Amino acid sequence: MPEVRELLDGVFWVGVRDYDRRMFDSLIPLPYGTTYNAYVVKGEKQTALIDTVNPGFERQLEEKLEHIGGIEKLDYLVMNHAEPDHAGSIPYILERNARLKLVLTEKGAKMAKALFHVDERRMMVVKQDDQIDLGGKTLRFIEAPWLHWPETMFTYIVEDKVLFSCDFFGAHCAHGIFADEVQDLLTFAKKYYGEIMMPFSSSGKKALEKLEGLEIRMIAPSHGPVHADPEAIINAYIGWTSMETKQKVTICYVTMWQATRALVDKMVEVLLAEGIDTKVYNLVASDIANIAGDLVDSRAIVLGAPTVLGGLHPQGLYAASLVRVLRPPAKYAAVLSSYGWGGGAVKQALEILGPTKMEAVGAVDVHGYPTGEDLRKVEELAKLLAEKVKAG
Ligand code: FEO
Repeated sequence: MPEVRELLDGVFWVGVRDYDRRMFDSLIPLPYGTTYNAYVVKGEKQTALIDTVNPGFERQLEEKLEHIGGIEKLDYLVMNHAEPDHAGSIPYILERNARLKLVLTEKGAKMAKALFHVDERRMMVVKQDDQIDLGGKTLRFIEAPWLHWPETMFTYIVEDKVLFSCDFFGAHCAHGIFADEVQDLLTFAKKYYGEIMMPFSSSGKKALEKLEGLEIRMIAPSHGPVHADPEAIINAYIGWTSMETKQKVTICYVTMWQATRALVDKMVEVLLAEGIDTKVYNLVASDIANIAGDLVDSRAIVLGAPTVLGGLHPQGLYAASLVRVLRPPAKYAAVLSSYGWGGGAVKQALEILGPTKMEAVGAVDVHGYPTGEDLRKVEELAKLLAEKVKAG
């Protein structure tokens, strides 16, 4: 029997677990896999499927739907988000039920046409607060754009107070059905937030403001477990979207012959002595999810990378680009570097980080292995950084 869970009377989880997936968007590591959650809402008159699953899992979804009535019994297919991990099976489902209507936002309609070649006649475009009465279960649609694509929306069951939030409030973890079954779920959720939602924090804040005043008894996201007691995840999101930072520094470094590493060691020693929460990642051996999670509330970022052939070591280049793309709320940045016969890494790092809102507090660039004087410069820079981080 396929795994189908009735979350509430007439509300079913019909998602799939992808234990094997190890990368998302060819960028984000998934050490614990992920889920593609889809849900069925059965009213007295009609039935809706909320989102679908990643391509390749269509048959699993179909088997689950057969268990609770079959695709032919569906009246609506709601697309909260057009990314293929949730919408990629829409063509498969639509093909098997000619009267099924695809419910989406106006921007969602353009995406569904472009990505999945859905015929416009199959679409039902909805706006903020539009409702569909399934009979004792009313679906209300809440536009929540840019979480993390332009077309995103939430779906809310008015009677049950259940919010289907798609990627928002999610976590990449294939285990459990409910949040309390997963140890340290908020840690997973924070990493996920850093990787996916952090560049869209202001949109997240607006979405949370829209949800104010709405009673929410359960949050059913499209990745990871369902929040039967949503207070913890909502409070966490209020904090993360506020872009508030802590007295915390995240250091990302790469080293070739330990010269840059020696600079990083001095920086870490001084920051810790100053009482700053300091997280250190060797870029060669680190999962970017952990880095992204720490960037969610770090007040400063230190990049350590040597010069390679006139510019940043490629790992340093990657890290600097990632920081720029993820738009963390950090206020301050510093660079540590070393070179053999000609520099260039610091200049390139500052060029990449320049368009961010971070203040470049300083850089130490060393020819060869650091001398005592070089380490004293790092100490000065670390103290200045600590002062700024403590000042807030
Ligand atoms: Fe889980 Fe943006 O897709």
